[in-house]
Amino acid sequence: MYKQTYPKSFPKGFLWGGATAANQVEGAWNVDGKGLSTAEVVQKVDDRHQVSMGDVTQETLDIAIADKTDTRYPKRRGVDFYHHYKEDIALFAEMGFKVYRFSIAWSRIFPQGEDQTPNEAGLVFYDHVLEELAKYDMVPLVTLSHYEMPIALTQKYNGWAGRETIAAFNKFTETVFNRYRGKVPYWLTFNEINTGTWGFHETGAIDKGLSEKEQLQIRYQALHHQFVASAIATKQLHRIDASAQIGSMLARMQTYPATPNPEDVRAAQLEDEKNLFFTDVQARGEYPEYMNRFFKENDVVIHMAESDQDILLENPVDFISFSYYMTNVTQHDQDGDSVGNMVIGGRNPYLKESDWGWQIDPVGLRITLNAMWDRYRKPLFIVENGLGALDKLEDNQVHDQYRIDYLRSHIEQMKEAIMDGVNLLGYTMWGPIDLISFSTSEMSKRYGFIYIDQDDDGNGTLNRIKKDSFAWYQKVIASNGEDLG
Ligand code: BG6
Repeated sequence: MYKQTYPKSFPKGFLWGGATAANQVEGAWNVDGKGLSTAEVVQKVDDRHQVSMGDVTQETLDIAIADKTDTRYPKRRGVDFYHHYKEDIALFAEMGFKVYRFSIAWSRIFPQGEDQTPNEAGLVFYDHVLEELAKYDMVPLVTLSHYEMPIALTQKYNGWAGRETIAAFNKFTETVFNRYRGKVPYWLTFNEINTGTWGFHETGAIDKGLSEKEQLQIRYQALHHQFVASAIATKQLHRIDASAQIGSMLARMQTYPATPNPEDVRAAQLEDEKNLFFTDVQARGEYPEYMNRFFKENDVVIHMAESDQDILLENPVDFISFSYYMTNVTQHDQDGDSVGNMVIGGRNPYLKESDWGWQIDPVGLRITLNAMWDRYRKPLFIVENGLGALDKLEDNQVHDQYRIDYLRSHIEQMKEAIMDGVNLLGYTMWGPIDLISFSTSEMSKRYGFIYIDQDDDGNGTLNRIKKDSFAWYQKVIASNGEDLG
């Protein structure tokens, strides 16, 4: 007889934790043999509503390489996790973290991208991080490439635009899979791979100033190389460490039609497809037809080697991860022209927004989880979600009730999605310690449960201070998501 059961709540062993990226926390950009990375040549902007990540030209690159200070490049200093990792991991353990997501800086291991042998001091640093996590039974979830690569590869091949970068990356992945075999059960290849359509920070390719058409060509070609490299890494991992799993990582941007006008609904569907395309390739192993049409209509030609399609098809990812911060609204082109030419990022009158204008949408997370589960039927992992806010430190305390409210409302919807039947492995909130903002390189856009005494200019003691949300998350984890009060 058919039994009508359904999951009632978070499963036993649900992986609660937090996520960071090397270039936003480690600092120590020029010690122990580390090479310069693409993240470390992106200048900080002065207006918090601007973004800095795509604005690299040959000229700014030369200036950055010649500049041996971190004044204009805050990602060079991070929050000095390199020297504070023991203290930071102990704080994560105190909150009860079951998992910690961090990234390995490729430029610590292969400083020039194509070095004959890896840099031992770089490998040792991550040995130590993994040892520390093991002490607390914390599961590592490791991102292989989080918005950075050795700058030498930009100089030689224009980053991922050059096919040669595939081999360099897969030498790096093979090295770390061998070194950390048996110690890392979950890996991710490229962080928010879809943001390669925005340019430099993900592709490492300088294309600023080129026409939109030329940029499209470079970016999608670079992304193709990343797809292939990701599939090769998947194959390597399955051979080297059969019990480990590897996932894709998407910046999921659910979009809603601006009105019930079928033209808007279709425009939103198209927009959504352009976002899901990346996971479609990585999970299903082939380019979807809708993108082939998009490429044709936009004169994009993806150059593939003969074996590329087989490599993609034979090596899909084991699980699917994504970041979730906000949703958008899409409407069709006002002139009724091509629906491909639509307005994105419209405001939604039903939602509030963060200090940085990101529209907060907890129910959208439930919608996203259900849609992703339906589409792929592979385990899901929320590897980023959180609130960047202007925190105030008073009497050594931060009363961040707004952060608790944000996280609570998202966790509630996550629970609903699990009750809907979604297979969710875990949740790593973004930025458990304050870190350097990816998009603006500010320090004052804070996400953490742990405040770090450092300002936008790098002044401060680097002391770690627990915010109110610290004890709250501790309670959430101890109750396996039941006590969200
Ligand atoms: C994601 C990135 O886009 O969002 C992180 O993977 C980033 O690296 C996070 O920090 C939040 O963005 P921001 O710009 O507020 O730091």
